[in-house]
Amino acid sequence: MRRPRSSAPCSSGRIATAGMTDLFVREPGLPGLLHRPYWSAEEQRTAVTAVRAVTEDAPFYQPTMPRTGRPFSVRMTNCGALGWVSDRNGGYRYQPTHPVTGLPWPPIPDIILAVWAAVAGYPHPPEACLVNHYAPGAKLGLHQDADEQDFDAPVLSLSLGDDCRFRVGGTARGGATRTLRLMSGDVVMLGGASRLAFHGVDRIYPGTSTLLRDWFPAGGRINLTLRRVTKP
Ligand code: SIN
Ligand code: MN
Repeated sequence: MRRPRSSAPCSSGRIATAGMTDLFVREPGLPGLLHRPYWSAEEQRTAVTAVRAVTEDAPFYQPTMPRTGRPFSVRMTNCGALGWVSDRNGGYRYQPTHPVTGLPWPPIPDIILAVWAAVAGYPHPPEACLVNHYAPGAKLGLHQDADEQDFDAPVLSLSLGDDCRFRVGGTARGGATRTLRLMSGDVVMLGGASRLAFHGVDRIYPGTSTLLRDWFPAGGRINLTLRRVTKP
């Protein structure tokens, strides 16, 4: 079922930075978690074009779990000075180059940087933009984003394509969780008391968006996660 949009998505050009977070839905019991529609349909198409260009230089690859070497069902790539990667021997980490091509990650496109500038409330730019592609059937287990040196900066994520069921809880493993339906163009920010909240993606809802159809005939979902990695 589609969630009715009660307000138009806002772009950084139309709404002043100050007060931007007042426009977010705050989730009861989850202080620091903000969620709202952000990109218009046109901005989503522009973002997809920019991300597709990123993947021409830095193609999606299949990361593997530390120790077990089990493949993730999500395919990943990155843009920015640092990219988040995982494999059997090296574990979870950030590095400046693509693990398959060995090349530096491409820069973060301006349309994505503009969201951070407008929303993050943090005076330094993000260093990493993880790009996840969820084909129908892909999911991501509950985890914390804890490989960064700077937890003062929020984690900001943008959704493109099919809806998903996003699960989020507190900062203790095994605690209560709840779910949010994320739709194309939505932004979610984990900051403050929710910066280290456990979160994951239970499932994609295939066929809920046509945004990615020209690129991936089966559709699916792209998630962009912006993070500050080092202390400024
Ligand atoms: C992540 O936690 O890496 C991605 C979250 C999402 O896909 O919404
Ligand atoms: Mn995460």
